[in-house]
Amino acid sequence: MNGRDLVRSVKAVGSVGAAQGVRTVRAAWRRRRADATGLPSRGAERARVPGPVQEVEPGPGGGVVRFGRSELRVLVAVNGAVFWGWDGAEPEPSYALAGRCPEPDPRAVLEPDKDGGWRVVAERATVVVSRHGAVEVRTPGGVTLRRDLPPRWWEPVGGGPARWAQRSEVAADARFFGLGGRASGPRLPDGTYRLWNTDPGHAFAPGDDPLYITMPVQLVVADGGTHLVFHDSSWDGTVTLREGEEGAGSGHDRAGTSELRMDGGPLRCWVMVGSPARVLLTWASLTGAPALPPAWALGHHHARWGFGSEQEVRRIVAGYLEHGLPLDAVHLDIDHFDAHQVFTVDPDRFPKLPVLAEELRRDGIRLVSIVDPAVKALPGNAVYDDGVAEDAFVRDASGQVVQGVAWPGEAVFPDFTHARVREWWGRLYEERLAQGFSGFWHDMNEPTSFNAFGETTLPRSARHSLEGRGGDHREAHNVYALCMARAGFEGLRNLSPQERPFLFSRSGWAGMQRYGGTWSGDVATGWPGLRASLSLVLGLGLCGVPYSGPDIGGFDGDPSPELYLRWFQLGAYLPLFRTHASLRAGRREPWEFGPEVLEHARVALVERRRLLPYFMTLAHLARRTGAPYVRPLWWAAPEERALRDCGDAFLLGDSLLVAPVLDPGADRRAVQLPRGRWYDTATEQAYEGPAQVLVDAPLSRIPVFARAGAVLPVRGEDGGLELEVWAPARGRTGGGLVVPDGGEGWDEPELERYTARWMSSRLVVEREGEDGGGTPPHPVRVRGAGES
Ligand code: NOJ
Repeated sequence: MNGRDLVRSVKAVGSVGAAQGVRTVRAAWRRRRADATGLPSRGAERARVPGPVQEVEPGPGGGVVRFGRSELRVLVAVNGAVFWGWDGAEPEPSYALAGRCPEPDPRAVLEPDKDGGWRVVAERATVVVSRHGAVEVRTPGGVTLRRDLPPRWWEPVGGGPARWAQRSEVAADARFFGLGGRASGPRLPDGTYRLWNTDPGHAFAPGDDPLYITMPVQLVVADGGTHLVFHDSSWDGTVTLREGEEGAGSGHDRAGTSELRMDGGPLRCWVMVGSPARVLLTWASLTGAPALPPAWALGHHHARWGFGSEQEVRRIVAGYLEHGLPLDAVHLDIDHFDAHQVFTVDPDRFPKLPVLAEELRRDGIRLVSIVDPAVKALPGNAVYDDGVAEDAFVRDASGQVVQGVAWPGEAVFPDFTHARVREWWGRLYEERLAQGFSGFWHDMNEPTSFNAFGETTLPRSARHSLEGRGGDHREAHNVYALCMARAGFEGLRNLSPQERPFLFSRSGWAGMQRYGGTWSGDVATGWPGLRASLSLVLGLGLCGVPYSGPDIGGFDGDPSPELYLRWFQLGAYLPLFRTHASLRAGRREPWEFGPEVLEHARVALVERRRLLPYFMTLAHLARRTGAPYVRPLWWAAPEERALRDCGDAFLLGDSLLVAPVLDPGADRRAVQLPRGRWYDTATEQAYEGPAQVLVDAPLSRIPVFARAGAVLPVRGEDGGLELEVWAPARGRTGGGLVVPDGGEGWDEPELERYTARWMSSRLVVEREGEDGGGTPPHPVRVRGAGES
């Protein structure tokens, strides 16, 4: 970026910032005006609880229990998930479900329980409904995992949506995870979490809440078992979590509690019970398999808000090549648009974008484009004119198109909750493909409007189609980005059917994994921000969104060389491996931090490239099983309490354990190892878990361990697939799965299964097949054998 470009970009941003004072006044007025006329005030309210049970009506998979003032529908689905809904709420319609509601399990029937209650006994869970409407979920062994007290509703006397509250109890030892992307996890500390997708308006750190992706999805891990609960309502709300406490000596246990308060929407939920892997499998079967990224999207991405020109992009790419650093994608932010208008290109700064894209592609580098939903409200702007003709933009209650403020200035917002609008928007990506872009980065889609309506989004009274049902922004807000992702994904599939679409989105909701991933948003540069990055990736993975990663180095400010390097080293083991920063932040290229950082960053980049076949395999496994690539240490051992509390390390698939350095000045760190033998991959020293070990973490690397027996697909020196096998302990066996995927197109490669076992002093690695074991079709390298 040259000086002139910088001045231009800063001016553009500055003008938005400077105008904000004036706009805030106008904003508050706009909101009052918009919502006062669009939303009737709630007025007096009447409280309600279900009352005593009166009758039941058995039905497929369960049935209906009628109470004095409400009714409860219980349904066990064939995938093992349990649904219940109050006041006539059914599983559909739902933005979270991938398709129709799964069929009821015909074996699950409603039967009388003691004390006048009712129960449904299913294979994986028993649901017990008390005569006053408390609902309990138990394991097949009879352990109570969750007890929902009878819900409460507050109904406006003059009509309108009821607010409601659902208080639940969990075991005293239970830990809460999930709720979308939260900065203070992965184990969620006691507190109140809001369910309203929000651009915080500044770079965030732990303690900032809510952020861009909120979801009413909790994963609860306790000695008695693991369960996931999803309250399928997209309205604004809060969840207040309080962990329980076990009674010391003769004291009583205090249960953990979760209280969900929603401003509206159906009171309905899904619960899944089982091991963490089983729970995520069931969740993915309900809300959809994660989209499979193309192989290049599992490599290294470099982004920058402020690539002022084509020359600047070429300079950065040349830097990567000259320094011998692998690079797979370059992202263009809003500054390549013409006057910040989406689906355009600034002809002065990027005069030959398709040529640039083609040249980069020849070097194995793809271009990714940012896509914002806000459309510049200016007649003559083609996207605006087209959208007006399509009647695509959100209107207010009086029928006027809602006008907010975003990067292009005064802007309007497509109503992605309308199928016709999604199709229109999906077709616009044709222009992007013609410019040579291979991937898409959805931004500002909470949606964000700079203080135009008193808060940084659309007025709550703004009208939305909601698939023809009709409703307002209170219901549509949290699913806005999900619907935008659907528009982009389906548009790309139509426009380029032979390619796997690659898109990732700042905001989203339950089910967003069907269309792609996300990134951590504008994380603050600083050690707390580094820690928050990992919290978001782990938490989102447990909500079914396996592909994400942070802005390496943080979004704002200037990281110290050490912080940058530690972030880079962590990012190299996360699904989205991307350097990115704000226009006003310092540089983020690995060579900008001195020769030592450059050298260590190179090692991280080269290792990431070597692990690409493993990442590709994890992407396939995520799609087939819902299991995130990045998993908490307790993934395979949720009963290990020490692991539940450990948020500073993670499992990458089944085979690797990564222990990033999250504190300044550290050259050693403690690592909590799960059961079994683990090799430090740098030294090949073996450790026996469960144990806490202290290992070296010099600036040159972060500790990474391999599970004994693991068979890991890696890229060999010649670019071909190799199997790296970590010796099992003597007398033990090992194995692993490999999906040998070229990384493009839709062909479904066959899953290869390998076993590793000792035959006297020889380690034999075989491919499992129908006719017994066979020699692997890839070279095998054994590591750690010296330790056996
Ligand atoms: C906000 C996004 O979070 C950030 O990544 C991006 O650089 C800016 N918008 C500018 O588009």
